[in-house]
Amino acid sequence: MFKAGHVLEGAFANQKAAEFFPAISANYAVDEAQYLTELLQLADPGEAGIAAIRERARSLIEAVRGRDNAVDTLDALLRQYSLDTQEGLMLMCLAEALLRVPDAATADALIRDKLNAAEWERHLGQSDNVLVNFAAWGLVMTGKVVDPETADGRPKNVIGRLLKRSGEPVIRSAMNQAMKLMGKQFVLGRTIAEALKNGRPEREKGYTYSFDMLGEAALTAEDAAKYMADYRQAVETVGAEPQVGKGPRPSVSIKLSALHPRYEVAQRERVLTELFASVRELAVLARQRNVGITIDAEEADRLELSLELYEKLLRDPAIAGWGEFGLVIQAYSKRCLPVLVWLTLLGRELGERIPLRLVKGAYWDSEIKQCQVQGLDGYPVYTRKEGTDTSYLACARYLLSEQTRGVIYPQFASHNAHTVSCILAMAEEISQPREFEFQRLHGMGDALYDTVIEKYARNVRIYAPVGAHKDLLPYLVRRLLENGANSSFVHQLVDPRVPVESLIDHPVSQLRRFAAPGNPRIPLPPALFGNRKNSQGINMNIQNQWNDLASA
Ligand code: FAD
Ligand code: 2OP
Repeated sequence: MFKAGHVLEGAFANQKAAEFFPAISANYAVDEAQYLTELLQLADPGEAGIAAIRERARSLIEAVRGRDNAVDTLDALLRQYSLDTQEGLMLMCLAEALLRVPDAATADALIRDKLNAAEWERHLGQSDNVLVNFAAWGLVMTGKVVDPETADGRPKNVIGRLLKRSGEPVIRSAMNQAMKLMGKQFVLGRTIAEALKNGRPEREKGYTYSFDMLGEAALTAEDAAKYMADYRQAVETVGAEPQVGKGPRPSVSIKLSALHPRYEVAQRERVLTELFASVRELAVLARQRNVGITIDAEEADRLELSLELYEKLLRDPAIAGWGEFGLVIQAYSKRCLPVLVWLTLLGRELGERIPLRLVKGAYWDSEIKQCQVQGLDGYPVYTRKEGTDTSYLACARYLLSEQTRGVIYPQFASHNAHTVSCILAMAEEISQPREFEFQRLHGMGDALYDTVIEKYARNVRIYAPVGAHKDLLPYLVRRLLENGANSSFVHQLVDPRVPVESLIDHPVSQLRRFAAPGNPRIPLPPALFGNRKNSQGINMNIQNQWNDLASA
């Protein structure tokens, strides 16, 4: 297990990056309780620190809740149909599935199946938002349309009878319309030119952008070629855009899975040649046009491969010395801190500046499920949100420490006012000023960062998806999961029933209050079926698991 507690003392600073690399894989599914004990040493600011952060977070949240733009319709909708209600889950299933169902008859059968199983009536009049109440009425009525029979076999009411004939097709088109509206909340524009235009008012306020061309998980070479063309055009257009304000220039974020249909460990050679060539071409163009590039983080199985690719790119003479070629690392991963240490060693060896966006991670649900399906020994991610939060803060402390100075340019992406308060407090402890920035997603955290800019004058970058409705689905589903989960900060922030007190509890204190740091409701994959042991799998995407198997 990685000795995280010693990282600030420079315990690894004299190692070669290549020697250190295996420590990343070795931490893949380490014991959660033991490893969090290590991370707690870094994340804990002490009693006085916790108290000061609490007050800072309180005043930030009160300021945010007091702003006009604190709650919008989508927040209100997701609060009413939270994912811990049966109805919220139904809507999520429908939204996720409907756009992928190719024929109307199947779509209607799905609607019938989902809508009649929930109690829509209990949401009537529960929200202050007119549109949300309207939606509740719509769903009550449509629920009756798809389930018009009562126990005695007669329709429940006249409306139900009237709507029965046109029922499911009407809902189908209404749902599609609703998805388009939701898409609008999260997408800045259909084209990069439109996005630049729509983003102008925010840039004038002091924000900068990272544009993300929608599209991921290319299945064919044609898909990949199309996404490549989109990225090329984005870099050209952003490069031609005049500077607005004093902040950093806008950048472009890319997803490697969009650029190659076989971005997977089993195709390592192709990734390190073909995908390498595509990313290199984009990076060279971006360097010419003065547009930074950031590689997004995707599934945990791809992490080690993505690092290998990143290193090869960073060593390429066409990219070396640029300093604007960054990547994203997920704090919910148990490998996060070792990756950051490795990147620092690599950057120092090569004399590079590495922009590093720290996120908590957007694929948590599927990571957990995937390990259960495969019957792996353990999870690569934490099982409680407080574990992820603690890891985020431990990693943030490392990123702001002397160990990374001159190599890493930290970019903290979070919509959580408490997390932001912790980082502001850490930054104030540094004696010599240090460059860093905050980041948020388009359509989220507006009120929080308007306040941060006003109060703390920090640089803030908005990650803004750009593209067509048909490429939106996976991104939208991740945002709906994030906004609809009752544990998520943004979900609780907009709910006036949630007292400020419960939003400003430090994750370190919360974690220490649990009987055990791991979540007892998420058993390890082998123990998933209680007395019957789950079938065992080995994850061949992870070097140390694959090496063991290969040598055996
Ligand atoms: P919080 O509500 O404080 O945290 C929510 C997060 O906690 C969840 O997303 C999850 O990571 C974690 N969590 C929730 N439940 C549990 C649990 N039971 N156990 C363990 N952990 C749990 N994500 C990517 O994966 N790749 C990217 O490249 C990426 N780029 C981003 C760029 C920007 C600018 C931003 C703002 C976000 C990006 N994200 C990316 C999304 C990011 O991961 C989520 O927005 C983020 O996790 C939400 O964290 P928060 O601090 O805003 O909210
Ligand atoms: C995602 O696509 C924002 O990269 C993040 O979910």
